[in-house]
Amino acid sequence: MTTTETLDVQPTPLALLLLGRESDPRSERGVDCPGDLPAPSDPNLVERARAAKARLGSKVFILGHHYQRDEVIEFADVTGDSFKLARDAAARPEAEFIVFCGVHFMAESADILTSERQQVILPDLAAGCSMADMASAEQVAECWDVLADAGVAEVTVPVSYMNSSADIKAFTGRHGGTICTSSNAERALEWAFAKGEKVLFLPDQHLGRNTAVGDLGMSLEDCVVYNPHKPGGGLTVEQLRAAKMILWRGHCSVHGRFSLESVQDVRDRIPGVNVLVHPECKHEVVSAADYVGSTEHIIQRLAEAPAGSAWALGTELNLVRRLAKAHPDKQIVFLDKTVCFCSTMNRIDLPHLVWTLESLADGKLVNRIQVDAETEHFAKLALEQMLALP
Ligand code: 13P
Ligand code: SF4
Repeated sequence: MTTTETLDVQPTPLALLLLGRESDPRSERGVDCPGDLPAPSDPNLVERARAAKARLGSKVFILGHHYQRDEVIEFADVTGDSFKLARDAAARPEAEFIVFCGVHFMAESADILTSERQQVILPDLAAGCSMADMASAEQVAECWDVLADAGVAEVTVPVSYMNSSADIKAFTGRHGGTICTSSNAERALEWAFAKGEKVLFLPDQHLGRNTAVGDLGMSLEDCVVYNPHKPGGGLTVEQLRAAKMILWRGHCSVHGRFSLESVQDVRDRIPGVNVLVHPECKHEVVSAADYVGSTEHIIQRLAEAPAGSAWALGTELNLVRRLAKAHPDKQIVFLDKTVCFCSTMNRIDLPHLVWTLESLADGKLVNRIQVDAETEHFAKLALEQMLALP
């Protein structure tokens, strides 16, 4: 479970919280920014961010996920996907404050991987992840009981995507599993299948299926989907015993939007286009695409692509726009016709960053993300297992 320094509120059953008013520390939802946020229209915001960062000097280290807004990325000391940022956070023991411009589960992972002395800060506590919220600790514990009753828990290794709460990472560590990201999911699954007969993959069914089928050569029939909202996950004992991959029924609300029609449509509009998508997309979309790869992979492939080539990207829009700007010699378009930012990533904006940096420079610790000691211990086992993957 995560606690926050500035808040003392009880978990709430509300599905939606009033922004700026409440927080639910047991989930990815919630926000509270005590004090005054500068107005987004303040013409001095950039200057104020620069000045506050300069006042903090080497005490602060700002991490920026690739899906962040341009105005935030401008102030990041490093940018990366969730795997790179987890490593970068762990490699900066001298920084007192790690300001994580990303989402809640990433800040939790940074807190787990950094030292006691370091404080991890999320500029807006409403920057959660809907996918991470699709697997709660209670639901996952119940699922493990279902696997035990079917007699398969002992031969099942949990592999959890980075995009999960610290509680789920701790569950994974307790049961001898590993964390993975979209950059190393194939290696994580190979490791897990060398250790056990089955994998419980949490919480993104699409990354699990795409990696098992696309990279490990399994069939779709080897995979079953565990639905936490149905008794027994909606699966029979026979189905659980026959499956190799038990996929949690979770998905990304951004990447899950891309459809087979969007792929067909872009091929009609741009003859010869290369379709490159993130493995959080549905299996049918990944199968219809020309290439699939993590955020870092997408960036790398675009950098190496020949001038004049055309690309349709199935990933978050802030990144797609930045790539299009960085490579004016290539035609780079968004795979879907409708706008698709990650709304929670986008919650981190310049006013929140300025408020965070100025508060820290004034000696006020705000929006600290702190994972409790027991959760941290077990979650760290699973995260370190990921960092040690061959
Ligand atoms: P990566 O950063 O691992 O590519 O994951 C994408 C994502 O959805 C982050 O929230
Ligand atoms: Fe979560 Fe998807 Fe947003 Fe990533 S892009 S933070 S997985 S909702």
